[in-house]
Amino acid sequence: MSNTLQLTQDEKAILAGARGQGAARALEIVEALARIAGVDRLLPVRSAHVSGISYRNIGEAGLHFLKTLAAGVEGLAVPATMNPGGVDLRQWRALGGSKAFVDKQLEIVSVLEGMGVEAALTCAPYHVGNKPCQGDAVAWAESSAVSYANSVLGARTQREGGPAALAAAITGRTVGAGPHLTENRMPTLVVDVMAELRCPADAGALGFLAGSVAGGGVPYFRGNPPPVEERDAFLRALGAAMAASGAVALYHWEGITPEWKVASARLAGSEILAVRDLSPGFDIPGTRPKGHVDLVAFGCPHASLAEIRALAREMEPGELQVPLWVMTSRHVAALAEDEGLGESLRRAGARLVCDTCIVVAPLKDMGYSAVATDSGKAATYLPSHQNVPACFGDRRACLRAARTGEFVSGR
Ligand code: F3S
Repeated sequence: MSNTLQLTQDEKAILAGARGQGAARALEIVEALARIAGVDRLLPVRSAHVSGISYRNIGEAGLHFLKTLAAGVEGLAVPATMNPGGVDLRQWRALGGSKAFVDKQLEIVSVLEGMGVEAALTCAPYHVGNKPCQGDAVAWAESSAVSYANSVLGARTQREGGPAALAAAITGRTVGAGPHLTENRMPTLVVDVMAELRCPADAGALGFLAGSVAGGGVPYFRGNPPPVEERDAFLRALGAAMAASGAVALYHWEGITPEWKVASARLAGSEILAVRDLSPGFDIPGTRPKGHVDLVAFGCPHASLAEIRALAREMEPGELQVPLWVMTSRHVAALAEDEGLGESLRRAGARLVCDTCIVVAPLKDMGYSAVATDSGKAATYLPSHQNVPACFGDRRACLRAARTGEFVSGR
């Protein structure tokens, strides 16, 4: 615990109740975290992204915590968005949700909205207007969003917990540690990519392998780059998988990500991982190499418009036998509907699913028992967080499973 923490006059006033009791309680949370981290000052942030809002995950205890914190909050200091909840709030009946669960989820959303958090309900807040610039300090929870903000946008954030991100939104302050500090943004692991990356799932497999070695470090990728077409999807799949198999909050890719040049000057002494074969990355512990599935899931992280276009191109009307979700934000879903992509997906038997995520939805209660996915992150978490068997494969493998109900191989 640090006794060197110096609060500004404004921060002392907030603690004394100048912005209400809610803000005072929130600043107490940030102050306690800052003392544990041993920093001298609190760091102002430009935005927050709040996770941990699915009723399946936080239950009554979490809802009670949010209500308690919300009492006396008189608005946010900075813009903030919500991560996915546990259910699509508009299509829940068609997806097998229950009214009781929806009511609880709505209560959580309403408590957060009452404080000023935007109900974006997406893990891609950068698709819906919460998009920091290079160098901006932000307080984001949700590990895939953290990875994207740090690595692809060049913003700076720790892997905040949900309550800490909410406290940052209320106070405009966070703990300036971890990736906020330039010295913590330097590489610890060089990954020589010798395998060809053909689709975003390959980047997920690469991410699984690299994250397992990197742990909480900073990988630097070089070698075969992700293809220019769909590059963003590759980078998001990579970051999400590394955040799940390790605790990677930041990576660099030579010639691609904004800080790679600075990072490239600091490679000496880094461990080197050569990846010639991606097959072991498809063999995530707890997943199945083949078997029956009753749900196929794309959009972890939430799909971009480009990813939805690519998926829609590969589907034919009436061909899917198994429910197929393409998870995305409402904002991107509306753009997809404008282009007729939603209709194309529905004709094939798929649907755009919003507000939720395959890992935090109550899948078993909704009647699903085995999932195929092209996401390394979802494949990592489904067996452990949902106790649901998962098959991890590329887009073609997952679409094949959606046509037949049988997953036969990952690639
Ligand atoms: Fe997003 Fe859920 Fe995947 S929050 S990154 S869809 S695990």
